[in-house]
Amino acid sequence: MTAARDFVRELAQENAAFWRGRDVRVDPGAPSAVRREQIRYRMRQGVYNELRSAELIAAWIPFVPERELRELLPGQLDDEQRHYQLLRRRLIELGEDPDAYRPLPEWEALFDWLVACRTRPTLEKLAMFQFAGETQSCEGFETLIALAEDVDLETAELYRTRILPDEYRHAAIGRKALTLLAESPAAQARARAACREMNEKVFAAYRAHRARVDRSA
Ligand SMILES: [Fe+2]
Ligand SMILES: [Fe+2]
Repeated sequence: MTAARDFVRELAQENAAFWRGRDVRVDPGAPSAVRREQIRYRMRQGVYNELRSAELIAAWIPFVPERELRELLPGQLDDEQRHYQLLRRRLIELGEDPDAYRPLPEWEALFDWLVACRTRPTLEKLAMFQFAGETQSCEGFETLIALAEDVDLETAELYRTRILPDEYRHAAIGRKALTLLAESPAAQARARAACREMNEKVFAAYRAHRARVDRSA
């Protein structure tokens, strides 16, 4: 039997392998004008994602009975709400109306599904969102920051200093949940399946995202 700690490391590697070359939202080779538009689109989508993340954490809190995990969630909710406000304010500074943006149906469906997962076991929920989802979004933010540095330094700094450190903490909540709860082979199989389910859904949303950016570019 694999110890929970070793299992968490293995599963993190499997998730990373799934994501290699699959974040299609931004194109590192694109000219700076195209990259600026891709980053701007990410921010519009980001406002929506942060708002829905706060909503989903609020929906999950009553269904996380494990005290040592549940007590971490209000802090996460607070972070996501602050990220929502920070990104929204930055878009307004850039002359945009963040409220005019309509999310892609694929993203809306992803969050609707996550909210509806609230009654699933804590192990599965936190494997999906905090462990798989937020670890991948940290990677995505690292890429975004690197690509934004020469086209929109202020936005890059906002992500680097005010958002990314919190997202790393959220991913750590996922690792903690799995370390505590994924002890038996059956629990480990459930956590692995939950990650796969989440990764596939997020990847489908990324593809839809990129198709829309390319149409508007
Ligand atoms: Fe966030
Ligand atoms: Fe987060």
